[in-house]
Amino acid sequence: MNRSTVRLAAGVLFLLIAAHPLARQAPLRPPDVPFEPSPQRVVDQMLKLAGVRKGDVVYDLGCGDGRIVIAAAKLGARGVGIDIDPQRIKESQENAVAAGVADRVSFRNEDLFEAKISDATVVALFLWPEVNLKLRAKLLSDLKPGTRVVSYYWSMGDWTPERVIPAERRSIYLWTVPARRLPRP
Ligand SMILES: C[S@@+](CC[C@H](N)C(=O)[O-])C[C@H]1O[C@@H](n2cnc3c(N)ncnc32)[C@H](O)[C@@H]1O
Repeated sequence: MNRSTVRLAAGVLFLLIAAHPLARQAPLRPPDVPFEPSPQRVVDQMLKLAGVRKGDVVYDLGCGDGRIVIAAAKLGARGVGIDIDPQRIKESQENAVAAGVADRVSFRNEDLFEAKISDATVVALFLWPEVNLKLRAKLLSDLKPGTRVVSYYWSMGDWTPERVIPAERRSIYLWTVPARRLPRP
């Protein structure tokens, strides 16, 4: 192989790597909430409050380092983590391998407002109040009736939670997506 062929091959390889979404170091757009992991004790309380068990599909919208999804997989559930920051997705994937649950979880570098979430049976949130409020309509329209939603720290405006428990001087809230109202005949 001559020098110009090697240069061309290196250039093509660089473009392929740079074009891969996870190769970007920058988030897709500025995150709505900065990364702050839930304390592990809170993670366990969230999953217990949501009654996570084998057969569940647990989403964490804004999954950070993947700890909620990984803990859910250890309970026998399948987990899906969504994060806008590719660095968080990389960490989550590494953490899932280290925890031995990589075959039961997946992590997607997506904006949570755009993500397909309809196969969830449980959704976990640790976001900010205005983000919870903005997300509420999507949760109610995209999720199946009966899907449980748990949120650490912040509630969801006038959507009354069915349970609230104390956690680390804050609260964890639980809702269940209600049956859809039928349109009037
Ligand atoms: C407070 S951290 C919570 C991390 C994790 N859920 C936990 O409880 O440990 C919020 C996460 O949401 C992510 N995030 C912020 N805005 C987002 C968006 N629009 N779409 C997807 N992820 C987002 C951030 O990158 C960050 O990792």
